[in-house]
Amino acid sequence: MSKWMIILAIFSVVAIIAGYHYYRTQTHWVASDDYKKPSENQAQTLVVSYSRTGNTEAAAKEAAKFFDADLITIQAPAYINDLSGLKQASDDAMAELETTDLIHEPIDLQQYDLIILSTPTWWFRPAVPMWAFVNSQQFYGKKVFLMMTGNSRYEPAMIEKFADRVTAQNGEYLDMLFVQRGRIFWQKSKQEVNAEVSDALSQLNQKWEDILN
Ligand SMILES: Cc1cc2nc3c(=O)[nH]c(=O)nc-3n(C[C@H](O)[C@H](O)[C@H](O)COP(=O)(O)O)c2cc1C
Repeated sequence: MSKWMIILAIFSVVAIIAGYHYYRTQTHWVASDDYKKPSENQAQTLVVSYSRTGNTEAAAKEAAKFFDADLITIQAPAYINDLSGLKQASDDAMAELETTDLIHEPIDLQQYDLIILSTPTWWFRPAVPMWAFVNSQQFYGKKVFLMMTGNSRYEPAMIEKFADRVTAQNGEYLDMLFVQRGRIFWQKSKQEVNAEVSDALSQLNQKWEDILN
């Protein structure tokens, strides 16, 4: 076998493994333990979680634990975790859509002091269902913090636009946390992501104390 054939064979194997990995990660749900609020106290914080394949939901549960928060999950049927849902997610995010049908239990945001919006990143911006959620809610002057997971990066201009939508719905946008999970062979484990979430939130302790006390 010539040197070039060996190189081609190696490239092909790596491409097949990477392709299969991508297919699996986009069409399988990453399960995490059921969320149980740590205490019986009335929650001051609500974590709103959208997740297409489970990674952001695990991070949302970690944040909910950190805040002793209530957690609600939102479903967006247009973006189910098969290849058609992936294509729709990609097309709609690229077109910067801000609405889609959502399914979630009824929510009264008025009873909370802090609302954490937890979402994956789709084309450098929060996923379409989180825009749809914000655009459909009334935030009653409550403080709103955005938490995003992503493989690589987000676009600050898109976050500013998202913050404007929160403000338009009478929320007080605080800030955001981006958790970079990395790509393919270099992706962080769920445990590493969870540790990063609770470390990052702990570093903002003064902010939370001012809001919640
Ligand atoms: C359509 C689509 C677009 C994406 N675009 C980005 C992106 O612009 N930046 C990024 O860091 N990650 C991007 N990702 C990766 C996801 O944000 C990342 O894998 C996320 O943690 C998945 O969360 P989930 O498992 O909760 O759905 C994209 C994923 C999809 C499906």
